[in-house]
Amino acid sequence: VQEVPIPQPPPTMLLGNFPDMDPSFPAREIQRFADIYGEIYFLELASRTVVLSTQELINEVCDQERFHKDIPRTLLEARALTGDGLFTSAHEDGLVLKREENWWKAHRLLVPAFGPLGLRKMFDDMLDISAQMVLRWDRMGEHHAIDCSGDFTRLAFDTIGLCSFGYRFNEFYTDEVHPFAKQMADVLKMSGQRANRTVLENMLHRWEEHERQDNIKKMHDLVNQIVAERKTSPKPDAKDLLNTMLFSVDRDSGETLSEQNVANNVVTFLVAGHETTSATLSFMWYNLLKHPEAFHKAQKEVDDIVGDQVLSLDMLPKLTYIDACIKETLRLNSPIPLVSVNPKEDTSLAGGKYRVKKGDVMTINNKGLHHDPMVWGQDHNEFKPERFLDGKFQALPPNSWKPFGNGLRACIGRGFAEQEMVANTAMILQRFSPEMADLGYDLMIKSTLTIKPDGFFMKVRRRPHKS
Ligand code: HEM
Repeated sequence: VQEVPIPQPPPTMLLGNFPDMDPSFPAREIQRFADIYGEIYFLELASRTVVLSTQELINEVCDQERFHKDIPRTLLEARALTGDGLFTSAHEDGLVLKREENWWKAHRLLVPAFGPLGLRKMFDDMLDISAQMVLRWDRMGEHHAIDCSGDFTRLAFDTIGLCSFGYRFNEFYTDEVHPFAKQMADVLKMSGQRANRTVLENMLHRWEEHERQDNIKKMHDLVNQIVAERKTSPKPDAKDLLNTMLFSVDRDSGETLSEQNVANNVVTFLVAGHETTSATLSFMWYNLLKHPEAFHKAQKEVDDIVGDQVLSLDMLPKLTYIDACIKETLRLNSPIPLVSVNPKEDTSLAGGKYRVKKGDVMTINNKGLHHDPMVWGQDHNEFKPERFLDGKFQALPPNSWKPFGNGLRACIGRGFAEQEMVANTAMILQRFSPEMADLGYDLMIKSTLTIKPDGFFMKVRRRPHKS
């Protein structure tokens, strides 16, 4: 194979491709260039950023022998908030961070806690929060326009608060969002902006950095207080993750996690799990309401399996069509649109065609991957949950669908999110017939650290035969 130079959009002197990036929506810019340059191109940003947009190339960088997650600049900024929590710590030596044992310890302790048995324990708490949402929708009545992003964020945030550290944010009982949620949104927004600015530009935004640090302190004060309380007065019967994190001993090191690391992980779960889950649910409802035949299939599935009963854990694996709607939504609208890995050594891609270096950042562009016509066919733009049914998905080439990231560093909360989303969707379909508040609404997207629908509202009518 002959080596070919990787194309680059024309850079600006001194600033490289920084002026090409819109800090308020990096994924859109990344896709804009993918439309022009195709399967691979690079941008001169803080590092040389090589963007990949086909299954074939992305499959290659999913090989954990040759590529690994090295905490990129976007995540280094978020570390001011989440420290050595799982998302933002290094499991191997990288260019900036050295291997952190705390990642391994927390990973070993938490993988089982997020596994099937751990999730079983958390089901009642998930149902508790979903029931609060359904009740609120019911009481607001059929003329009330539900702000989907707002309410699903309340749902996801309250659910993680309760399941991870036994704390009730009670977002469904107040109109104002909890100060913690507001502080988190502000910190994430500012961290994202900082990551996409030059060092010089960041120096000019010093007052903003002051505000960011102040918010971070307030958030940690709350979490530290709860963690310390549990440590001094343990609650052996609590079913949340906090007990596992504080009191389990890691078999390899013989140690427990430090209080500081536990707090960092609690904050990490709140950050990593609330917007992603909320965005997926909003996107899914948008897709369902735009596709009445899919909506009716989903509702029929709930009628057949749940009927008038209270939803129970053993019903969830039978709700396969709802699960497929969620997976198809994650294909079309991945809330984390970009994930990056680094080559461990200088190497090449596509059998020697493209040369890449150790310091390069390989960006997996989910939009490109999830629309690769070689994998998903010519109808890749269409919402078709059937793609994920009857073993069709399993027959696709490896690494064709990556909304939850890759390998060892893939999402630890995937099962948690799936259980919560299927349960919540089933409860809504059982009780209500939702429709779009504005029948002419077409999807608009906004971006913070995740992407989510903008201005999407639903109305719900109680189904006649339900008690
Ligand atoms: C990692 C997506 C829900 C906790 C990730 C990554 C992705 C992702 C793409 C990899 C990021 C990277 O490589 O840099 C999602 C999506 C979700 C979701 C699409 C919902 C639909 C959750 C939930 C939690 C969670 C509910 C916690 C309760 C985490 C953590 C990591 C992670 C801790 C870091 C894992 C590690 O590196 O050890 N997630 N996530 N996520 N996610 Fe999720």
